[in-house]
Amino acid sequence: MAWYEIPNTNAMSIYFTIVFGIFTVIFVFRLWLKATCGKFTSNVRMDGKTVLITGGNSGIGKETAKDLAKRGARVIMACRTMDTANKARDEIVKSTGNQNVVVMKLDLSSQQSIRDFSKEFLRCETRLDLLIHNAGYAGVFKKAKSVDGIELTMATNHYGPFLLTHLVINLMKKSSPARIVVVSSKYHHVSTLKPTREGDLNPIDFWLPGQLYNNSKFANILFTLELAKRLKRFNITVNCLHPGMTNSKIWRNYPICLQIPLAIFKFFLKNSYEGCQTTLFVALSPDLNFVSGRYFRNCRESRPNARVFNKQWQTILWDESRKLMKLTKQDPII
Ligand SMILES: NC(=O)c1ccc[n+]([C@@H]2O[C@H](COP(=O)([O-])OP(=O)(O)OC[C@H]3O[C@@H](n4cnc5c(N)ncnc54)[C@H](OP(=O)(O)O)[C@@H]3O)[C@@H](O)[C@H]2O)c1
Ligand SMILES: *[C@@H]1O[C@H](CO)[C@@H](O)[C@H](O)[C@H]1NC(C)=O
Ligand SMILES: *[C@@H]1O[C@H](CO)[C@@H](O)[C@H](O)[C@H]1NC(C)=O
Repeated sequence: MAWYEIPNTNAMSIYFTIVFGIFTVIFVFRLWLKATCGKFTSNVRMDGKTVLITGGNSGIGKETAKDLAKRGARVIMACRTMDTANKARDEIVKSTGNQNVVVMKLDLSSQQSIRDFSKEFLRCETRLDLLIHNAGYAGVFKKAKSVDGIELTMATNHYGPFLLTHLVINLMKKSSPARIVVVSSKYHHVSTLKPTREGDLNPIDFWLPGQLYNNSKFANILFTLELAKRLKRFNITVNCLHPGMTNSKIWRNYPICLQIPLAIFKFFLKNSYEGCQTTLFVALSPDLNFVSGRYFRNCRESRPNARVFNKQWQTILWDESRKLMKLTKQDPII
């Protein structure tokens, strides 16, 4: 049979069976995912509370912001890309009826931007009950530096949130009890980060492809544990989580050659609504009122990699972060 002839019915039925089989596998998998992914069902309200969420214009962050707006919170979306942020805000206001949703400009890879943002934030806001470090960058195979000369993935995913936390902490202390939520990843398990090794904390020269993201997510957990200790007496809890593999824009920087397999892989991922459930659980669950320094997955506590409990690493990362972020005597100390 030549390639241009219509296949006979026998071949047709084989194609049909294969296609049907693939769709069945995807369908069954998605049912399984829905059943196991964890859902935050509590109806806690957030009226009168203020939330600051980074990266609320896309993916998991946008769904998180929408849910918090539905619960009556004042939601500050700190975003880098203003046009998608304003669109997301309008969509959230329209679907929730909550007008109290505000977009503010923040580029977490730039210390100046974080300082400008914080100044404006503190000028406009009178309280801060919940801080969600959601924004994240996965420039997996690209070597890049921030404007401050810091490796871009670490700058965006760890150092930016570290500096931002410092600059808004005094308002949180005044609003306590308050919560800080750090969106990490299960990829921290395969991280090779060693804060004691020269160059690991700012890996511009010691660059390992594919490892930057994983290391930054490991740093997220070291940071969570150290911060939780330091904020205990102020009644501010700090917890981190893995949202689950989610079909968001996080995959956009993967090389073109990986985009085709990724397109298939995406059928097997959570959607952003499913992806935000653990963030909501950690941010809102009354069961976690006094729980701090823990790691969550699928709306349940989970065990992080044992290496995150290294106290020396937690302290070294903290001290080095203070230096790299150029915190001064005038800045708040945590
Ligand atoms: N999706 C997953 O499977 C998965 C798995 C584990 C962990 N996570 C984590 O989940 C979080 C949310 O990611 P997502 O999946 O929702 O991905 P996403 O759709 O790509 O959202 C990432 C957000 O981070 C923002 N962002 C990136 N760089 C920034 C910067 N320099 N300054 C300010 N904001 C910046 C993005 O803003 P722009 O729109 O301006 O780029 C975007 O709003 C991330 O921390 C990610 O590491 C995701
Ligand atoms: C880091 O995480 C990525 C996913 O972002 C994973 O595919 C990769 O195997 C990990 N890298 C290494 C070096 O283990
Ligand atoms: C923290 O909470 C406890 C119990 O709710 C309370 O007794 C204490 O005064 C609070 N401490 C601060 C610093 O707010």
